[in-house]
Amino acid sequence: MRIEFVQADRANPPAEGAIATAIIDGGKLSEGAQDLDKATSGALARAVAAGRFKGAKGASLELVAPAGRESARITLLGVGDGQWNGESAETFGASAYASTKTSGATTLTLLLPGVSGEEGARAAFGATLASYRFDKYRTTEKADKKPSVETVKVAVDDPAAAEAAWGDLKALADAIFFSRDLVSEPPNVLYPESYAQRIKALESMGLEVEILGEAEMAKLGMGSLLGVGQGSIRDSQLVVIQWKGGGDAQPIAFVGKGVTFDTGGISIKPADGMEDMKWDMGGSAAVAGLMHVIAGRKAKANVVGILGLVENMPDGNAQRPGDVVTSMSGQTIEIINTDAEGRLVLADALWYCQDRFKPKFMVDLATLTGAIIISLGNDVSGLFSNNDELSENLLAASKATGEQLWRMPLPPAYEKQIDSMIADVKNTGGRAGGSITAGLFLQRFVNKVPWAHLDIAGTAWKKPSSEPTIPDGATGFGVRLLNQMVADKYEG
Ligand code: BES
Ligand code: MN
Ligand code: ZN
Repeated sequence: MRIEFVQADRANPPAEGAIATAIIDGGKLSEGAQDLDKATSGALARAVAAGRFKGAKGASLELVAPAGRESARITLLGVGDGQWNGESAETFGASAYASTKTSGATTLTLLLPGVSGEEGARAAFGATLASYRFDKYRTTEKADKKPSVETVKVAVDDPAAAEAAWGDLKALADAIFFSRDLVSEPPNVLYPESYAQRIKALESMGLEVEILGEAEMAKLGMGSLLGVGQGSIRDSQLVVIQWKGGGDAQPIAFVGKGVTFDTGGISIKPADGMEDMKWDMGGSAAVAGLMHVIAGRKAKANVVGILGLVENMPDGNAQRPGDVVTSMSGQTIEIINTDAEGRLVLADALWYCQDRFKPKFMVDLATLTGAIIISLGNDVSGLFSNNDELSENLLAASKATGEQLWRMPLPPAYEKQIDSMIADVKNTGGRAGGSITAGLFLQRFVNKVPWAHLDIAGTAWKKPSSEPTIPDGATGFGVRLLNQMVADKYEG
């Protein structure tokens, strides 16, 4: 989809295609709506007077081919109090796109005189995020079911300012799409090696990408990660991505769980809904998306991204419940349930990260536990951390982006739930506080470095989605949040 920023011409509002404009609570016409109202001999004011639609936030009303604008369809979108800010502009753009995408119109104009350039760019960002669609495997969809909108024109007073603000937002949207694509790919197409190759291709953006295979990981002693992939015919991979935009500053690091398919292994999952476990690599996709935007906007920071990529399959060679593996840290792990595999992957990936890079901090992202969905549902991710400052920075970025986090505790008293009878630690801690004992497990593989763990099991994938900027399916959760934190706190 193309984005164009154009001059809002107050005397000559657009006459073609789909046009979206704002109505303020109480039925008040925004500046753009006033212009269209004049051009249609008062059709907008009459429409608002005729029914219940009075501009309440989220409400909308469609006017098709009104006299004076015969070749247009006008969507009136309620914006509540009419106070424009980045967030309201973004929602406006997303809702406008969602309500016109299959109308048949090929052009959608967001008519926004009186709105700043920066807010205009955010409207374009909202429309772009809403336009995400993963349709590469559809071959028989009828043309009249496909989205028709090809171009979104954003009409503002200062299109040059909007264009300038769009650069970083475009880079962010591209990265979110990259992340959503990875999550949406089927597991026969996206497996550790094919995934690693897609990341390798990001070298064209200036990122450095190293891929470690099973032999290299075995040499490093990564028995915990390798045990998970041992039942799969696919080779496990550890992908190390680096962006060096920050001179000689100590790097910051992000680590992602990348289980390209989680059957549960020998502790096999029920058949119902198992297909969802293709998105068990959502944490790694968030890290990959973050690296994409960091490179896309040439961030002034040194950033490391590490993806632990494995497929968890049952097989004659698969890991058994009862096995004991030795992690890179030297700690031994008793496998109680082969379905608690994400923490096993992260144990070695986190250890490797701190050992090699000595980062300022590490943040890991993982679709780690079903228990976090019971705790926080599908709109809020769990934040676990050994460090208050890092937590505050993440929570501030969460507030700024709307990607919600809630800090969860790591009570030392629960450690005994993961003490093993025969090894240093066991990989499950029972039903009580399942997300917390998973966090405590990870913490055993983190030394003094500030660390945070985001459990995104509830938020990586949404069906149905609750926000206009997120179509059903892969959300890209984390890309925007982490990019915001890096931009606000760790550049310059
Ligand atoms: N990938 C799952 C967690 C998950 C569940 C993500 C549902 C998204 C939706 C993880 O590997 C897992 O299976 N966790 C187990 C842990 C248990 C065996 C201790 C779980 O949550 O049931
Ligand atoms: Mn599992
Ligand atoms: Zn899993």
